[in-house]
Amino acid sequence: MEVVIKPSYDEMSCAAAKVIADVLNTKPDAVLGMATGSTPLGVYKELTRMHKEEGLDFSQATTFNLDEYVGLPIEHPQSYHYFMHENFFKHVNIPKQNVYIPSGTTRNYRAFCDWYEQQIEDHGGIDVQILGIGSDGHIAFNEPTSSLSSRTRLKTLAEPTIDDNARFFDKREDVPIYAITMGVGTILAARQIVLLANGKNKAKAIADAVEGPVTSMCTASALQLHPSSLIFADDDAAGNLKMRDYYDWIQEKKPGAPQV
Ligand code: PGA
Repeated sequence: MEVVIKPSYDEMSCAAAKVIADVLNTKPDAVLGMATGSTPLGVYKELTRMHKEEGLDFSQATTFNLDEYVGLPIEHPQSYHYFMHENFFKHVNIPKQNVYIPSGTTRNYRAFCDWYEQQIEDHGGIDVQILGIGSDGHIAFNEPTSSLSSRTRLKTLAEPTIDDNARFFDKREDVPIYAITMGVGTILAARQIVLLANGKNKAKAIADAVEGPVTSMCTASALQLHPSSLIFADDDAAGNLKMRDYYDWIQEKKPGAPQV
């Protein structure tokens, strides 16, 4: 894991957006794994700026989103379809047909999940996967005790996640209880991981994920098994890391490191 700590949310977002842009500039038909939630908004804003001001081109890219609430139609303001359209897709030039988001309204979840996995494979796999992290250490909706080799499937949300996400709904009872989500195994199959975290309420989850044991009690800890995962955190989210000085030292010494 490479831990990159930035003093502010904006600096963290810009550094992470640069990683995504580098992938796209190297491979214009890259497959991008997208995430929702408040954390990646800064990355989407910066990628949009790069598209408008620097010509970053998404015309050959394909995207796969991590998850979607069950039961919300795509036009529902809290659906992840709506979120992605409003916060990113409508601002850049990704062709509509290249956008994949799990369906929250399919009649056959099992078949849909298998189809979704097949689509990822048929597109050659995900080149770079953006992730947030839940306060309970989840990635996508892989709640504590999710299998670390799980694939796309239906999950029941944990109560802390429902509490966290209630801020987006009129009332707590409106938060869907079920979601369709890529599994931890699906995420680990991506070639590169970019996980983002900001704010004090993520400090424990980040410390558990980076420095704790690999355990399904914190599904983000499975990223320790990934050969290329970047963890971007702001100062607050990095607050509980015991090895902080070492991570900063690595970044400081990076320009002089032998080129591999
Ligand atoms: P957040 O959600 O970005 O809204 O904090 C992160 C997550 O639950 O994965």
